[in-house]
Amino acid sequence: MVNIVINGRKEKAKEGATILEVAREKKLDIPTLCYHKDLSPFGACRLCTVEVKTNGKWQMVPSCNTPVENGMEIATDSEKVLENRKAVAEMLYYRYPETEAVREMAERLGVDVFSEKGEEHDCILCGLCVRTCKEIVGVSALSFEDRGPERDLEEPRIGFDPNACIGCGSCAFVCPTGFVTMEAVDDKRIIWNKVFQMTECAVCGKYFAPEDQLKYISRTTGVPFAKLTTCNNCR
Ligand code: SF4
Ligand code: FES
Repeated sequence: MVNIVINGRKEKAKEGATILEVAREKKLDIPTLCYHKDLSPFGACRLCTVEVKTNGKWQMVPSCNTPVENGMEIATDSEKVLENRKAVAEMLYYRYPETEAVREMAERLGVDVFSEKGEEHDCILCGLCVRTCKEIVGVSALSFEDRGPERDLEEPRIGFDPNACIGCGSCAFVCPTGFVTMEAVDDKRIIWNKVFQMTECAVCGKYFAPEDQLKYISRTTGVPFAKLTTCNNCR
């Protein structure tokens, strides 16, 4: 355990934990858009910024990827922190004014928003889908495509590898803006414009998982494919 001072209170915190983890444990509210507790931190949105005193000087750091240190002083809600977060939210809102998750966050942080609801689903490059696909699913079908000398891209964007994707839908589930959509049409699932054949449950007959996902599970676990054709409810 390490000793810290957070918002003027002396506290103990788990060594190696990030400031965000410690703050959440102590029920302190820090907004985030690119953080997920089960994924490695990415530091993209900068909404989680807090002030930290090191060597007698206060400085702004992203709380999601800064570990606590013994003797650290942290301010999660100082005037400077709140102003900084509002400015970050304002910039995001300026860039994606019609995206509901961004509009909601901006409004929450005191930005004057000019619509009651956002109707768009822009990709804000939070990287949650890329990290989920790599770190939880383990297939790395998604990646960042940056502007580069060989690429004809105006903006960075998420790249999709149809040969690696197994159609599990985790990216659609985790995407905070609804940019990633997953459609069910009869016995097919469509995601990132790729069409997957769904598997019928051997007991109840419901379509429950893409064949490619079951084949992947079979390959990585050694369980025969034939043993995976029953849905969770019927198992
Ligand atoms: S597609 Fe969604 S989850 Fe992926 S980077 Fe864009 S906003 Fe984030
Ligand atoms: S949550 Fe920390 S930078 Fe996005």
